[in-house]
Amino acid sequence: MPSPTTTKFTSSKQKHQFSSNNFTLRICKTLFPSGLALLLVYLFLFKHSNYPSSKFTSPFQACHSDNSPTNITHLVFGLVSSINSWKARRPYVESWWRPNVTRGYLFLDKPPTQDLLPWPLTSPPLRISEDYSKLEQESKHLAPRMIRMVLALSETLREGDEGVRWYVMGFDDSIFFVDNWVSVLAKYDHSKYLYIGGQAETILSNFFFSFEQGFGGAGIALSYPLAAAMVKDLEGCIRRYPYANSADLITQYCVDEFGVSFTAEKGIHQIDLRGDISGFLSAHPQAPLLSLHHFDYVNPIFPSMDRIQSTNHLMKAAKIDQSRLLQQTICYDRPRNWSFSVSWGYSAHIYEKIYARTLLKRPLETFRPWLEDAKLPMFMFNTRWPCEIPNIFFFESGGKTLRNQILTTYLRSSPLRHPNCTLSGNHFANKISKIQVFSSATKLIDVSV
Ligand SMILES: *[C@@H]1O[C@H](CO)[C@@H](O)[C@H](O)[C@H]1NC(C)=O
Ligand SMILES: *[C@@H]1O[C@H](CO)[C@@H](O)[C@H](O)[C@H]1NC(C)=O
Ligand SMILES: *[C@@H]1O[C@H](CO)[C@@H](O)[C@H](O)[C@H]1NC(C)=O
Ligand SMILES: *[C@@H]1O[C@H](CO)[C@@H](O)[C@H](O)[C@H]1NC(C)=O
Repeated sequence: MPSPTTTKFTSSKQKHQFSSNNFTLRICKTLFPSGLALLLVYLFLFKHSNYPSSKFTSPFQACHSDNSPTNITHLVFGLVSSINSWKARRPYVESWWRPNVTRGYLFLDKPPTQDLLPWPLTSPPLRISEDYSKLEQESKHLAPRMIRMVLALSETLREGDEGVRWYVMGFDDSIFFVDNWVSVLAKYDHSKYLYIGGQAETILSNFFFSFEQGFGGAGIALSYPLAAAMVKDLEGCIRRYPYANSADLITQYCVDEFGVSFTAEKGIHQIDLRGDISGFLSAHPQAPLLSLHHFDYVNPIFPSMDRIQSTNHLMKAAKIDQSRLLQQTICYDRPRNWSFSVSWGYSAHIYEKIYARTLLKRPLETFRPWLEDAKLPMFMFNTRWPCEIPNIFFFESGGKTLRNQILTTYLRSSPLRHPNCTLSGNHFANKISKIQVFSSATKLIDVSV
């Protein structure tokens, strides 16, 4: 059986280079032609849209007339936690929180117990939610515990931070990718009323709550003017919808009162999924990764690590290049009939056959829906579970090369198992233990803007 290390391969002028059992792949050559076309269209539109828009400033724009690019100081996070959950979830928050750089607060339901003190400098500044028991009783709310989560918005605004463009609300088990939030929010006009979030992955979650809501665990962003308008009467709004059974739904109803509709961003992930979500994360769309929620409910995303280690490991890739994180690139080695799918900074898959991009873009259904007894159709996207099981590699390490490129390395992991499938292909790829991916050291331009 020929092995991938034969001279035929090493001497070929492929852009993939073999050396012993390593495989090298240049991601920069694989930009989708359609992506390039979009980029050109974008540049064209941008060049021809220099209308003097400042002629039509609203009173709001007058007080927020700062058109400088949005940066991290313009975001304020409001994170809801509780004394019961904080201890276990603190590592999730600290994996992305940058002390003295990220602005925001973490709200506990009660003053911290001795074991939570002294409050660490590496955690977001601590605040204790007000006592809402009176409102809970008076409003006869279906979900009284949700009131505190909704009102965290008022409490965050009350802190009176200066120069805020966006309030981002989330939970203690949300992992945020802050640089990507900055780039994504920067493409919106923060002087308008905007409500940005993510839908759930399972159809039933959206159906039970709302297709028009941002799932709060995954994080929602409210532009300053909208947040400021909402908090003027947030308690009144809560009283108007005593039948709304979740904080996210109440928030949506309060946003609706301003005639504002929901804007969905593809990188915000509620993760209303169970089990092994590697199939989902390995087919991330061409959009910046913004958040991952519900890590306590899924398997560790790196099979050889626990949940906290997995989170910190993904953050290593995020520190190298957050703009590319998880985004899927598909390319081919035509002479060998192999297909590659790389989820940057997370996984790399080799199929010993040519499969169309349109197929490989569908997540392998390694995961289960949030509610185990859900019926088809279960997900908000197409999935696949054919028997073409890839060779799977997970992110190991990365860094800059001397030639100012970024090199990430992926190591072989055990194959997926499925009761009705047997491994197909010629198994030549079995010899490969490691994949190296080179990418540009410059930030990935969002071609979809
Ligand atoms: C962010 O932008 C403001 C202007 O709106 C500027 O004053 C500030 O220096 C910037 N901060 C960073 C960290 O880039
Ligand atoms: C944040 O700033 C404060 C005050 O300037 C300082 O005491 C503290 O050490 C800083 N925290 C970190 C983690 O750098
Ligand atoms: C690749 O696939 C084509 C079409 O199925 C086939 O003709 C060719 O022999 C294959 N090449 C290899 C190296 O397997
Ligand atoms: C395996 O195949 C059988 C028969 O086609 C089917 O009933 C069963 O649901 C399949 N199992 C899985 C886990 O897909």
